Amino acid sequence: MFQQALGSRDHLVCYAVKANSALAILKLLAARGAGFDIVSGGELERVLAVAPEAAGRVVFSGVGKTAAEIDLALQAEILQFNVESEAELELLAARAAKLKRKARFALRVNPDVFAETHPYISTGMREHKFGIDIRKALKIYRSVAGSRWLEAHGVSVHIGSQIRSAEPFAVAIERVSKLVAQLQRDGIELKVIDAGGGLGIDYHGGSFDAAAKVNEYAAAIEQVLGDFKGRLLLEPGRFLVAQAGALVARVLQVKRNGKKTFVITDAAMNDLIRPALYQAHHEIVPVRRRPGKTRIVDVVGPVCESGDFFAHDRELQPVKPGDLVALLDAGAYGMAQSSNYNTRLRPAEVLVEGGRARLIRRRETMADLLAPEMV
Ligand code: LLP
Repeated sequence: MFQQALGSRDHLVCYAVKANSALAILKLLAARGAGFDIVSGGELERVLAVAPEAAGRVVFSGVGKTAAEIDLALQAEILQFNVESEAELELLAARAAKLKRKARFALRVNPDVFAETHPYISTGMREHKFGIDIRKALKIYRSVAGSRWLEAHGVSVHIGSQIRSAEPFAVAIERVSKLVAQLQRDGIELKVIDAGGGLGIDYHGGSFDAAAKVNEYAAAIEQVLGDFKGRLLLEPGRFLVAQAGALVARVLQVKRNGKKTFVITDAAMNDLIRPALYQAHHEIVPVRRRPGKTRIVDVVGPVCESGDFFAHDRELQPVKPGDLVALLDAGAYGMAQSSNYNTRLRPAEVLVEGGRARLIRRRETMADLLAPEMV
């Protein structure tokens, strides 16, 4: 889809590993030529474990990188470090000098753009912890020009996640393009503009035309790229994997409390935290339909918190204890944000490929959970 929408523009899709870091998925994407956007040494290890040949297509984002993580990435000769502060750039220079490896960097600039999304996942405004004030970037690029171990390779921007309109992306990229043009006048030729991730999906079902969305997004960016001749990097996470995944849960009980009906499932907020954390909506459908009328219910898990819910006052098809229900669009930030809260074992993961199902992560066992502990 991105390939088609971007046509002749030199580009690389760097999948944001944080959205779903299953090795099997990374492998599938690497085989299709994808690059990767990582935010930790751990994510780099995952990429290297299944696709060492993709190391040169990795960009390293994140607001707090440790020296050890930087070293690992320098040794792997990744494509680019997206640097979020002057102090980080100094650290990168020091580690590069120590290891005698040139570090290709991009400054992640903060364009001060408002993106309509949940406040926890909006990142592109000056009050956020992310990036370097775009007005300061020029000076920083100039200050390291001619440095032996740092190569000014690109510029990056990421304004937030689950953004439904193309406009804020265009505004951000336009500001970035101006910076690139200014640097060019100064003799600093950047090879890459990294437009980050953030493209949203429709969690309410309906007729979501993903290709049209990508086209609209690509056109908006293309329009403001000016005469930039370098490579465009994109870091989509959610858009690539959200709709590919469902969380399947079993109904344990259907319980009435006063006027309310609660459908209690064996999955909980530790398996899918998005509703609790971002008031996110996920469609819930019974795996097998039963005859009968829909009911207004709360769908909740067994965790001891009132925040442990999947849906409030939702119209649900009839379900009985023992039935399976699917929570849709859980492929992004689902398993990736799961935990063992309440000493709950995480579920298995199954990859369905062209009608064939394959186990890609076995169920956790109590032995897995207790292994790191000492008494
Ligand atoms: N690049 C950077 C630098 C990022 O911080 C992120 C996501 C992405 C790319 C990928 O963004 P995406 O295309 O997936 O929107 N847990 C939240 C979303 C957090 C996003 C964090 N950064 C959720 O479940 O909605």
